[in-house]
Amino acid sequence: MIVRQAVRQRAVELGFSLVDQTKIVTAASELARNTILHGGGGKATIDVVVNGTRRGIRLTFEDDGVGIADLNLAMKDGYSTAGGLGLGLSGARRLSNEFDLQSAPGKGTRVVIARWK
Ligand SMILES: Nc1ncnc2c1ncn2[C@@H]1O[C@H](COP(=O)(O)OP(=O)(O)OP(=O)(O)O)[C@@H](O)[C@H]1O
Ligand SMILES: [Mg+2]
Repeated sequence: MIVRQAVRQRAVELGFSLVDQTKIVTAASELARNTILHGGGGKATIDVVVNGTRRGIRLTFEDDGVGIADLNLAMKDGYSTAGGLGLGLSGARRLSNEFDLQSAPGKGTRVVIARWK
C-alpha cells in the first residue's frame, strides 16, 4: 500500500524512532484499509504539523461511502460489520496521540489522527 510507504518516509524525515514509525504506519494502514473496504475508497492526506518546537504527522482519511451509524460501537474492540477482527479503529486510536472520527450514514467517513515526535 502506497500510504504505508509515504507515511514511513515522512516519519523517517521527522526523526521518529523505529517504534514510533511503526505505530503511525500501522495506524495509517488500518485506516486506509477501512477507507477501501468499508468506505468504497477515498483519499488519504499526510501533513507535517508543528506546535512550538514539536513536530508531528497528521493523517486524514476521507471517503464518501456508507458512513457509520453508531460511532461508539464502531470504536469498540471486536466490533466488525465485515467479519474482521474489529481492531482497526480502536487500534489506530491507541497508536495515535490524537484521534478524531466523524461519520454519519450516507455522509461518508473522515478520520484524522496525529502522532507527535
Ligand atoms: N470508512 C468506513 N466507512 C464505513 N464504515 C466503517 C469505516 N471504517 C470503519 N467502519 C465500520 O466500523 C467497523 C469497525 O472498524 P474496524 O477497523 O475497527 O474493524 P474492521 O475493519 O471490521 O476489522 P479489522 O480488525 O480487520 O480492521 C467496521 O466493521 C465498519 O462497520
Ligand atoms: Mg478495519
